[in-house]
Amino acid sequence: MGKLISFEGIDGSGKSTHAARLHQRLQQEGYRAEIFREPGGTDLSEEIRTILLHYKGELDPVAELLLFSAARAQLVAQKVKPLLEQDCIVILDRFFDSTTAYQGYARKAVDPGQINEINKVASCGITPDLTYYLRLSPEAAAARLTDEKDRLEKSGVGFYKLVQQGFDKLASEESRFVIIDAEKDIKDIHQEIWEHFEKLNVQPG
Ligand code: TMP
Repeated sequence: MGKLISFEGIDGSGKSTHAARLHQRLQQEGYRAEIFREPGGTDLSEEIRTILLHYKGELDPVAELLLFSAARAQLVAQKVKPLLEQDCIVILDRFFDSTTAYQGYARKAVDPGQINEINKVASCGITPDLTYYLRLSPEAAAARLTDEKDRLEKSGVGFYKLVQQGFDKLASEESRFVIIDAEKDIKDIHQEIWEHFEKLNVQPG
């Protein structure tokens, strides 16, 4: 079995940059590694992403939860599971912890027990070996988001404070979480990420 590494954090925390950097470094060092974003990573999941980020009407919170989960189910079945079975390192730019934090903790779409069950079904019971949580204040993250905002990014600082509380709670409960201070210099953050990866003791090839 390969290893599954996820990156989490609120929008603007820099997690996509660091997920891409880790992927690049792994390839340079001779590891077989693939990276996918969530929602996304397959044709169907990318189509669902477009709806989730740009749908103009009212999206019911439960419908939103199930759309994120549907995108995930397709990605896990089509890419993540087969690659892990081929001993590949799979990096995910977000995974089910985002659902727990955004749809569970912040939106309160359904109760926590139900979110956990839905997450398990959508991810085929697969859990990350390591989760990097890029932590940044919602105010600092909002200041970094300069492009036109998508549907979720328009939710405001109050919403992101709840999302962050959700991630903080997960990080305090799950030993796979590594909290990274996202205010730090990009190079230092990458080094910290790399040092944690090395502790997994995975050999290249
Ligand atoms: P991204 O911009 O990091 O690619 O993520 C897309 C948006 O979707 C982001 O605002 C976080 C949100 N999201 C959820 O609300 N729930 C989820 O389960 C996932 C994967 C993302």
